[in-house]
Amino acid sequence: MSANYLVAQDLHKSFNEHKAVNGVSFTIRKREIFGLLGPNGAGKTTTIRMLSTVLEPDQGDVIIGGYSIKREAEEVRNLIGVCPQELALYVELGALDNLLFFGRMAGMSSQEAREQALAHLKLVGLEERAKGRIDKFSGGMKRRVNLAVALMGHPELLFLDEPTVGIDPQSRNNIYETIEGLRDKGMTILYTTHYMEEADRLCDRVAIMDGGQIIAMDTPHELKAQIGSPDRVTLEDVFLKQTGRSLRD
Ligand SMILES: Nc1ncnc2c1ncn2[C@@H]1O[C@H](COP(=O)(O)OP(=O)(O)OP(=O)(O)O)[C@@H](O)[C@H]1O
Ligand SMILES: [Mg+2]
Repeated sequence: MSANYLVAQDLHKSFNEHKAVNGVSFTIRKREIFGLLGPNGAGKTTTIRMLSTVLEPDQGDVIIGGYSIKREAEEVRNLIGVCPQELALYVELGALDNLLFFGRMAGMSSQEAREQALAHLKLVGLEERAKGRIDKFSGGMKRRVNLAVALMGHPELLFLDEPTVGIDPQSRNNIYETIEGLRDKGMTILYTTHYMEEADRLCDRVAIMDGGQIIAMDTPHELKAQIGSPDRVTLEDVFLKQTGRSLRD
């Protein structure tokens, strides 16, 4: 069993009086695809924002690759890539120009930025659309560029916040295959979704969140086996059993 790459300990975050994340702890092993699942408002994005040093936790700490997000945020940022839930792209620029921009912002030489940008566009199946403007792209193509941006700098740990929400099957499959390929090459991945069947297919382990807390955590197989025959029950059933509520509101 490989070592833990990320250790999150007792994370808390409130907005005004509302506890968005309320005592969350988990670990992610190197080369693992770890799923953070849960309905709208569960606290998934708030958790990712703390892990990726965007939001300071009220309490708790996270160690990534041996560095603390509180004391060594700069070192942590050098190890991670973030694909945010809200698209973060310049829509009036082309796909390649977006990647070049982010590469240069990260301090790459123009040659390095270009090499990486072309390689990542190829990986997400958009090399032939390199010059196409983002505002002319489909939702799925935009998601794929968003993912390519997160890969600039070859992060060791990738945060994907709902990378497949609302997109066509072709882009969805491209994203699945890209993610599996990245894991096979040694990347560690944290993935959030509220599509339970997607998590079942992709994730080595999942944590199910609700109301700012983790209510179940294990391999998809084990979570399903706890409530019935793993071939017949779904992660959706696990959520229902744990909360008494259906996942989709
Ligand atoms: N900046 C903020 N200010 C105030 N409240 C916030 C802020 N960010 C998140 N919240 C609240 O915290 C809770 C958790 O939100 P979060 O975005 O982490 O959930 P989520 O699991 O990512 O949901 P979704 O599936 O809709 O993306 C929600 O009730 C949300 O309204
Ligand atoms: Mg979210």
